[in-house]
Amino acid sequence: MADHVDVTDIDLDRTRARFPALGETDDRGRPIVHADAPGGTQAVDRAIEAMAGHLRTGSANQGGAFATSVRTDAMVDDARRAAGRFLGTDPAGVVFGPNMTSLTFHLSNALDERVMTGDNLVCTQLDHDANVSPWLQLAARNDAEVRWVSLDPTTGRLRTDELSQLVDERTRVVSFPGASNALGTVVDPAPFVSAAKEVGALSFMDAVHAAPHRRVHREASGVDVVASSPYKFFGPHAGLLAADPALLASLHPQKLRPAPEHGPERWQTGTASFEAIAGTGGALEYLEQVGMRAIEVHEAALTRRFLEGLERLGSVTLHGPAEAATRTPTFALTVDGWTPSAVASSLADEGINVWSGHYYALEPMRALGLLDAGGAVRVGFVHYHGAEDVDRVLDALSGLAPAAG
Ligand SMILES: Cc1ncc(COP(=O)(O)O)c(C=O)c1O
Repeated sequence: MADHVDVTDIDLDRTRARFPALGETDDRGRPIVHADAPGGTQAVDRAIEAMAGHLRTGSANQGGAFATSVRTDAMVDDARRAAGRFLGTDPAGVVFGPNMTSLTFHLSNALDERVMTGDNLVCTQLDHDANVSPWLQLAARNDAEVRWVSLDPTTGRLRTDELSQLVDERTRVVSFPGASNALGTVVDPAPFVSAAKEVGALSFMDAVHAAPHRRVHREASGVDVVASSPYKFFGPHAGLLAADPALLASLHPQKLRPAPEHGPERWQTGTASFEAIAGTGGALEYLEQVGMRAIEVHEAALTRRFLEGLERLGSVTLHGPAEAATRTPTFALTVDGWTPSAVASSLADEGINVWSGHYYALEPMRALGLLDAGGAVRVGFVHYHGAEDVDRVLDALSGLAPAAG
């Protein structure tokens, strides 16, 4: 097997040393393979230090006259600016929250005023439910129709040619994923954005799975709103929503009287988790140092190696894009004669963390016919993995294969 994974701009030893959790070993002394990255990545040292540093040096509410509060203000401003650079968006339109789901739900509730009986919303069969359920509820509350861009189960890609039939002058929202947390498919925002723009609908991209793998640029891609989660890009459990500040200002989110009337904090309820915002800033500082291009190149090598290895495992079926291009190193698999949960348990015994089931990707699993069959095993790598991790997973999977003959 070619050793091409090591020939990338990512210095794996130095990179891994920055993630303390990667030093963890199983009861046989083997490093744990954290191949559950699409469910949450391990935190980088800079994020951990920033988070602990905020608490250690003193935390205070924002807007006070004293130094600790002034420091909190500056930290939040820095993190907001870093999030703006990361998501290619004006920092004045960056909203911090507890997670992507809450922020998306909050936005969808505020869109009640824009959705009337007989309108329609467009969702996709490739989305995590956090980018489906809020829109289903928005539609149900307002007697609107939900229309679906279908998933081609053989290619793992969306049939975007359907958009011309689905989107019309009554479409209010077009939502889509930046990438699939289940199949690893990377989605081009362009057809969704242009279909939405043509009829004046709001475009919404769930960038949670895309953000640790690919450059996301809200303004360059023309998407109205983008959401992501720092715990999927090496930071703490938190959420980010980014939009044009004018769009946010034009809506009326639910808020209590003391919340500010203007700015992104108008969308935040109660006191923010300042330590999580500090940690988010730390993760973003790290990503700026590494660069998304280096990450993409390294991950492409991991993807090729894993796909090549899978070809030799006759009893394992890959669901999703079979080609290495325009996908992340996230793989949904089923193994002949094994339930997905039994595979996950068996891999856990080998010191390998993987998820099984539907991982909230209800629509993709339904489209693949796997929803009522236990879903699939999900193996997910990020840039801190190397050839050894890929091979450990392949070896463990080959150990599950029914004996030949
Ligand atoms: C693609 C995708 N979207 C949305 C979510 C929900 O994110 P959060 O946990 O921040 O609400 C997840 C979480 O797994 C996800 O993978």
